[in-house]
Amino acid sequence: MEDLTKKVAELGKRRGFFFQSSEAYGGISGFQTFGPEGAELKRNIEDSWRNTFSRGLGHREIEAPTIMHEPVFEASGHLDGFDDMIIECPECGNSNRADHLVEDNTPISEAEGYSAEQIEGLITEHELVCPSCGSSLNGVDVEDFNLMFETSIGPGNSTPGYLRPETVQGIFVEFPRLKQYARNQLPFGITQIGKAYRNEISPRKGLVRVREFTQAELDLFIDPKEDEPSLEEVEDIKLKLYPVENQNSDGINYIEASVREAAEEGLVNKWISYYLGIAKQWYIEIGVDMDRFRFRQHQPDERAHYASDCWDAEALIDGDWIEIAGFSYRGCYDLTKHGKHSGEEREFSVFKEYDDPETVEETKINIDMSILGPEFGDKASEIAEKLRRKVELGPDIVNEGPIFVHMDEEEYAIDSKTIEVTTEKVTKTGEEIVPHVVEPSFGVDRTVYTVLAHSFTQDSIDGEERKILSLSSEVAPTEVAVFPLMNKEGLGEKAREIANNLRNHGFSVKYDDTGNIGKRYRRQDEVGTPICVTVDYETFEDDPATVTLRDRDSTEQERVHITDLEEVIRSRL
Ligand code: GAP
Repeated sequence: MEDLTKKVAELGKRRGFFFQSSEAYGGISGFQTFGPEGAELKRNIEDSWRNTFSRGLGHREIEAPTIMHEPVFEASGHLDGFDDMIIECPECGNSNRADHLVEDNTPISEAEGYSAEQIEGLITEHELVCPSCGSSLNGVDVEDFNLMFETSIGPGNSTPGYLRPETVQGIFVEFPRLKQYARNQLPFGITQIGKAYRNEISPRKGLVRVREFTQAELDLFIDPKEDEPSLEEVEDIKLKLYPVENQNSDGINYIEASVREAAEEGLVNKWISYYLGIAKQWYIEIGVDMDRFRFRQHQPDERAHYASDCWDAEALIDGDWIEIAGFSYRGCYDLTKHGKHSGEEREFSVFKEYDDPETVEETKINIDMSILGPEFGDKASEIAEKLRRKVELGPDIVNEGPIFVHMDEEEYAIDSKTIEVTTEKVTKTGEEIVPHVVEPSFGVDRTVYTVLAHSFTQDSIDGEERKILSLSSEVAPTEVAVFPLMNKEGLGEKAREIANNLRNHGFSVKYDDTGNIGKRYRRQDEVGTPICVTVDYETFEDDPATVTLRDRDSTEQERVHITDLEEVIRSRL
């Protein structure tokens, strides 16, 4: 469909799904407001995510603050490494994301992993110009721009803080308490749905790249040596995969593999494969079109600083593949970093008890610093450290004469009498391990946008154009709309009574008695209401009383006894 983006934006504005925020003040790029229909749709998607990824997998959700102080982001690597490449036009001062400029104006479709020098070279080679004023960008420097919003906490000489750029840092910093809550038992999962903030250089496409957005994230903490995903739950689900090797070959060719095949043939990390299976089922449930959907592996130079493997869920809208979720294997990166930076390493590990205590022989290495110190002065402790590592690798070395240590391009011969190696038996009840993290991370705004775009269709009824959102009943803001044919002769009262009754049975119901009935149907089609119920004159003529039930997609109508209405609607939804 041509220019779906524009159509969704127009519908979003007109029907209250999403629109530019603070328009009365001219608006500011990168901030969107969800209107009454959009906010309801978003909440339904979040609830559905919760049911699948949090409650559905036996995990618990937390709610951490969105502002965190500086040490958190020093540890996480965001202060140093959470940058995008920026190029500023020397003529008009307009800033652009340099890799996007290259992607939009050259045959290169993924430039995120390129270095600044490579991007500068491509800008010169393709003679790229400023999109705002048309001036040449040849020779203009491409620089790093940190995406975090900085703020200050408290008055006076306040503490620097940042709006979190991903919700998961709120999970990682609370790990010491969360592991207690989980009674030190791995694996355990924690989820969080909340706001994240990124000072994007070039926000674009409505909800796709905004500066304030919602993430739904799951962090599963595992023992990498022992824990295994329950592949059997999703093993037969087929995945459309676009691995790195296929991206580097000519044309677009996908691999279709089941979750089990992907995991066992080493195509996808086994944990990620498991979550891709769960995610695919969920996306189908909320109405993402599987003909416009794929899982793409990150190129090594594209991966975030914490990820050892990463796959994105991508949706096709208007010819562009949009990343709607990322699935990363973060290893022990985050917990190790927070352990080291906070000085509380034990708090960021888990004591794993053995089934039976183990008695092991432990080698003790004792280095006599009273000999090394006078001989090597300020180099003594560094030499001792190297010596220790050498002896740890092969304690027998102490029986073979002097030990040679290389340092600063010099060789030092150390008398083996300086070192005493003993062994002793110790009984261990367990060990400290740093759990690994598997993280499916969903962008809620982009999911809302994809669901809207993929459910948008147009047809023609009696020569009149009709716009429809074929939303799944799992997420539709309104499940049933109830109308009186006319608001007179008791029809309105009866329709209100039916609407209230359906609400009391837990349905999300809208009552509408304005405009002609055709217009009311069109309004509901445009906001994705699956079923409309109309009270008309036949309602009172029939015994028992009936109403018309109209299906959004087929527009077919049937008469249903009011006494059966709740049951019929439930089965249709
Ligand atoms: N904790 C991992 C993480 O944050 P990410 O790939 O940077 O990973 C996860 O973000 C998801 O958040 C993305 O897949 C995307 O859907 C969404 N997202 C990221 N930046 C966004 C932005 N500026 N606007 C809207 N959604 C965004």
